[in-house]
Amino acid sequence: MNRLVLLLFLLTACSITQERLDQGKRIAFERNKGNCLACHAIADGESPGTIGPALNAVANRFQDQQQLRAFIFDARQFNPETSMPPFGKNRILSDAELDWLVDYLWSLP
Ligand code: HEC
Repeated sequence: MNRLVLLLFLLTACSITQERLDQGKRIAFERNKGNCLACHAIADGESPGTIGPALNAVANRFQDQQQLRAFIFDARQFNPETSMPPFGKNRILSDAELDWLVDYLWSLP
């Protein structure tokens, strides 16, 4: 019985995680949300722009998820001249959308 409960728990946890990653990908790709593809190549993304660097191995470029989130929140904190929109500061994306996006980007190989 306990094993069954544990199994169900693990299955639920896995599907929640997958759902967060799917949501994050949707935010990154949708034109009326992040539209990150306008400037960044991302795996699976069609016809990306090249204004920004390709987003692969993002986890290697930041100290932790918090720092990545801060970058997307307002990239001007890191480079005042950046052309990347301040997605959090300007409320283009909600807090939850930023969290999903960060989970998704962190998972990219
Ligand atoms: C208008 C173009 C533009 C859009 C749209 C854009 N970015 Fe960027 N992004 C840039 C540029 C340019 C850089 C290069 C660094 C800089 O300018 O500070 C960058 C850098 C980054 C970096 C750091 C990469 C590195 O190796 O340093 C991440 C992560 C990132 N962008 C994520 C995103 C995400 C996620 C979205 C969508 C929510 C997005 N960007 C939308 C232009 C854009």
